Formats: sequence, structure tokens, C-alpha cells
Amino acid sequence: MSKKIKVGMLGIGNVGTGTYRALEMNHDLIAARTGLDIEIVKILNRSPEKDRGISVPAEKYTADVNEILNDPEIDIIAELIGGIEPATSYMAEALSKGKHVVTANKAAIAANGPMLASLAQDNKVMLRFEAAVAGGIPILTSITTALLSNELTQVHGILNGTTNYILSQMSMYGKSYEEVLKDAQEKGFAEADPTADVEGLDAANKLSILISLIFGISASPDAIPTRGITSVSNVDIAFAEEAGYKIKLLGSAERKGDKVYGNVEPVLLPVSHPLASVNNEFNAVFVNGNAVDELMFYGRGAGPLPTGSAVLGDIIGISKRIDKESAYDNLPQLRYDSPLTFAGEGSSKYYVRMAVPEKSGILGKITTIFGEYDISIEVIRQEADKVEGDEQLVSLIVILFDTEKKKLLEALDKILKTDAVHSIENIMRVETR
Ligand code: HSE
Repeated sequence: MSKKIKVGMLGIGNVGTGTYRALEMNHDLIAARTGLDIEIVKILNRSPEKDRGISVPAEKYTADVNEILNDPEIDIIAELIGGIEPATSYMAEALSKGKHVVTANKAAIAANGPMLASLAQDNKVMLRFEAAVAGGIPILTSITTALLSNELTQVHGILNGTTNYILSQMSMYGKSYEEVLKDAQEKGFAEADPTADVEGLDAANKLSILISLIFGISASPDAIPTRGITSVSNVDIAFAEEAGYKIKLLGSAERKGDKVYGNVEPVLLPVSHPLASVNNEFNAVFVNGNAVDELMFYGRGAGPLPTGSAVLGDIIGISKRIDKESAYDNLPQLRYDSPLTFAGEGSSKYYVRMAVPEKSGILGKITTIFGEYDISIEVIRQEADKVEGDEQLVSLIVILFDTEKKKLLEALDKILKTDAVHSIENIMRVETR
């Protein structure tokens, strides 16, 4: 006889629907593999009239969250509402009442993970959030189980499907950012308000969670230098490709000594890097461990069923422990007791695109100032085409050898004060491997 595990689900949007469908699809398989009869018994649904393409018995729905949080029969709460509040308060209440919590909520975990983890610890229950980072990819489980024997020294992730789709389509079809965004919105790949995705905020939440689990330190999304893809143009993409690079929005963090450097920004990646071939809406996470060496995880970072797969994986993991009466396992990394500190941006190779007047003496002025700051130029190239919208200007692109961002910005500031450069159009890190 299978042991019954009762789950209360908060929210039935995309992720909730996918979780429900994945359980319907694979309930018997899960039962055969684990001896567990997992059932979603109650669902918080404030719009029960909405057709979600699944058949849920009406008595499972409630509009009252307390009916779920106070139900003594419910073992696990799956929080799938999204947003920081009221989701955090619901999770805190569930943990305080001795219920295990699974969530897909990156914003709430990035903002309140330590508080929720400590509540879980105090109440001897489990908190899991695999679906919060890179959707269906089991990256957090891998970091916190199979890779525990490693010191992970760096992580680079394509953590946002919307922006990867936009950059891929710009690169493959030469379309403009605006054109691809509009097309993605029409096809439902991009949100009507794409700000959190295109400005890198969604990726910063996910990187914040990865940094805490990999390095055992807190790097709140606000502390992570973050830039999205709105400044990436077809000129950048074409130049990068000719020079042997792909432009990807990366969330990166790397340990050097007792510091962890990290940021979210568009980066020029050598085409030989495995992440360079991750296209369209797919996500990937690349880690480097001192024993395992390089590892890359690839998959769908969003979508009902892939995200539902991650939510269910967490539910099954907790259920197996409930069955063995040992359902308590704190994630040690969330204690934040590592001696490392988060230091923001470090030094790197950089790509800079400038709009410059087409006249003599320009290069001399620019290279002299880079020289004053001890910044060495690897590649310099002037485009033949005029800058769009200004017949007097052309694009000048440089790739600079390793330098600190702060020093680079100072040099560019000085260059801008001369008449050699009209404007700095884009600055991107260049990744080496
Ligand atoms: N909006 C996210 C993306 C998916 O485009 O990848 C949810 O995290």
C-alpha cells in the first residue's frame, strides 16, 4: 500500500498548471518508483472560472489561503504564486506551522531565502526551490548533492529564456531588437511588460540564489551589478561574430582568493565556449569544480511542464523523507557562514563601441588616453558604415586586454571630454576560456 502524501498548492498559473499536469501524467510511474501516492488535494485559486486546460475537481479549489495553511492533513505546500509578497508571508506561515515548502519563486527566495531557511530549520521542516533557477534544469539539486565534494570556483549561466531568444533571433536573422521583442510578445515567449527579463533583473535573482548555494555568501540582487540587453545592437552582434564571438546575457560569478566577483550583463563569448551554442529560449548553467572540472547543464528555463518537473522533483524528494520519518535536511550553504565576500565586478577584457566623427587625429587621441591608464588595446576597428541617424559619425570598436571596469570608465570619461568621441554606445565584457 502506497503512503499518501498530501500537497496544498498556492496558485494555478503557468507553473501550477504544469505541476498539476505533470503529476497527472506521471502519478503512477512516481508511485511505482517510490511507493508514494502524491496528491494535490487543495489549490488556492482566486479565478476558478478561468479555463486552464486541465480538469481539476471543483472541490479542490479554494479562494481562502488559510484553508490550505491550516489543514492538518497537508504535508507540503507548493508556493507557485510568484512575486515577493504575499508569497513570502504564506511560505513563512506554512513553515511555522510545520509544513514543508516547495517554491518556484526566485524573487522571494533571492530576497528572503535566509529568513525562510532559518524558519525551516527552527521548525525542522524542509524548504526547496529547484524550479526558481533555470526552470527544469536540476542545477540546485546537483550543487547541493552530487557536487558537494567539489569546491566550485565559477558559474556562468544563461538564466533567462526571453533574452536568449531575442539575442539568438537577432544573430540568426539580422532582425532588430525591437522587431524580435514584438514578435516574441506576439508568440507569447515574452511578457507584455518585459522589463524584468530584458533589464537582467530576473537573471540577477537567479544568480543571487546560485551565489548563495555555491559560495555560501549573500549577494542580494541589488548588490549584483546588472545590465540587460537593450543596448545590444546588430552592429555589436555582427562585429562580435566576425571576431569569433557570440553575445549572450550571462549571470556570472567567480571566486578569486577570498573574493567572489559577479554580475549580470551581455558578454562576448568565444564561439568555442559551450554556452555560445545555447540558443533561443533555452537556458544553460556552466560550472567549474576543482574535482569534476567543467560541467554544463542545458534545458528549458521556463514553461509549465519543465518547471512543473522541477517542482515535482522537490515534492518527491521531501515525500521520500517524510516516508522515512526523516524529512528534515537544512541546506548548509544558506547559512552564509563562508569567509568569502562579494566584491561585484572584477577585471576583464572589454569590448567598447564608440560613435566617432569621421575626421583625422581621432585614433591618436583615443589610444593616447588608453595608454595613460595603462589599458592595452587588442583589437581596434572602424566600421565603414555611418552610424544610423547621423551622417557625420562612424562606429569605432575596440577590444581591450584585462582591465578593471572602474579604470576603464575613468579612461572613457576622459576620452569623452575630448572631441575625438561623440558617445560611448556600448561596453561589454569579453569572456576568455
Ligand atoms: N521570464 C523567465 C525567462 C522565465 O524568460 O526565462 C521565468 O523565470
